Amino acid sequence: MDLDQLAALRTPEGEAALVAAAELTDGDPLVAAATLRAAGIPAGLAAAALTQAELRRRAIGKFGPDAAGMYFTRAGLEQATRGRVARRRAARLRDAGVHTMVDLGCGLGADAIAAARSGIRVYGVEADPVTAAMAAANARATGVADRFTVIPGDATRFDVTQVDGHPVDAVFCDPARRRAGTGRRIFDPAAYSPPWDFLLGLAERVPRTVFKVAPGIDHAVLPADAEAEWVSVGGDLVEATVWCGPLAAVPRRATLLGGPVAHQLTGTGVGRPPVGPVRRYLYDPDGAVVRAHLVAEFAATVDGSLADQEIAYVYADTPTPTPYARCLEVVEVLPFSLKRLRALLRDRGVGRLEILKRGSALEPERLRRDLRLSGPESASLVLTRVADAPTALLCRPVR
Ligand SMILES: C[S@@+](CC[C@H](N)C(=O)[O-])C[C@H]1O[C@@H](n2cnc3c(N)ncnc32)[C@H](O)[C@@H]1O
Repeated sequence: MDLDQLAALRTPEGEAALVAAAELTDGDPLVAAATLRAAGIPAGLAAAALTQAELRRRAIGKFGPDAAGMYFTRAGLEQATRGRVARRRAARLRDAGVHTMVDLGCGLGADAIAAARSGIRVYGVEADPVTAAMAAANARATGVADRFTVIPGDATRFDVTQVDGHPVDAVFCDPARRRAGTGRRIFDPAAYSPPWDFLLGLAERVPRTVFKVAPGIDHAVLPADAEAEWVSVGGDLVEATVWCGPLAAVPRRATLLGGPVAHQLTGTGVGRPPVGPVRRYLYDPDGAVVRAHLVAEFAATVDGSLADQEIAYVYADTPTPTPYARCLEVVEVLPFSLKRLRALLRDRGVGRLEILKRGSALEPERLRRDLRLSGPESASLVLTRVADAPTALLCRPVR
């Protein structure tokens, strides 16, 4: 999509094409294009409207009902923060007393719109002209154009200390972590756009700096006095946020969203849980807990221990209800052997097997084929190491 196509979509004819495209919810794209052309919509406009309608449908998961009136690029939608995560971050910024914030690389505006809705005055800087124009349109579509202004341009050259005569009291940056063109993920923070050194320098200019990073970020590169927070939604680890200056409340935090209330576990990130034997119950901690290096803090909540210093399965004698981990009851422990495992599963009539693993190089799907499962029962198999030995744990859910 280019700026001319976007402008065409925002004319009365374009809006009518979008309405018509939204009604063609299923079926062959060629038939849909032919239907719009038969209704007198020019081919280029019909194609742009159909793409937008498809992206709006996909965007509902992240943007909810707002998606129906917003504009998206495929890459911008993929990189946009989920609504629930953006709202929570915005509320924390507002509660910390932030009034005016610059969002460097605001993309299509998911974070900026959430912040504006929470009452923060947001200036979004965006280098890509089409994305910037869409973000401005999205500010209008979501009713926050009076509090979210988009400034097309390069974030690395933007004066983050004041804007429009207002002192800036916070800076947020969610750098692009995919390569332009290929869309492939970037793992090296130095290759983020804007890059890592720029993000670290921001905190020196504006103490209340917040940036979003990939959940796989190496703890060793994080600023020493910042808070790093890992966020999961419904068990899926989605991002990490670095809170600098006075916004840092604890060294490490794991935030679990998805249920009716958010759960947060905090700690130092350097604790070591006790190590002992496999016990009757196994806890598989949420990805946010594991990535935040808060397994020791979690283990303490269930009086648990590890069976291997390096592997984040926690074992305990009782099944304590917890939002931070899934709990399974261990029914058999055996040194890993395909033959023994196959015999055990056959004896127990296990035909449906969930396979979990940490610290095992085995490929679950290949193992499942090799096990030649049959029978009416279901079970969970945990592949792991115990005191450095490859071990299989046959488990069942805790009732
Ligand atoms: C991950 S996206 C931001 C997504 C946004 N937080 C959201 O939730 O909708 C990063 C954005 O930064 C923009 N960007 C990358 N480098 C930039 C730079 N130097 N100046 C301004 N924008 C930049 C990209 O074009 C992209 O739209």
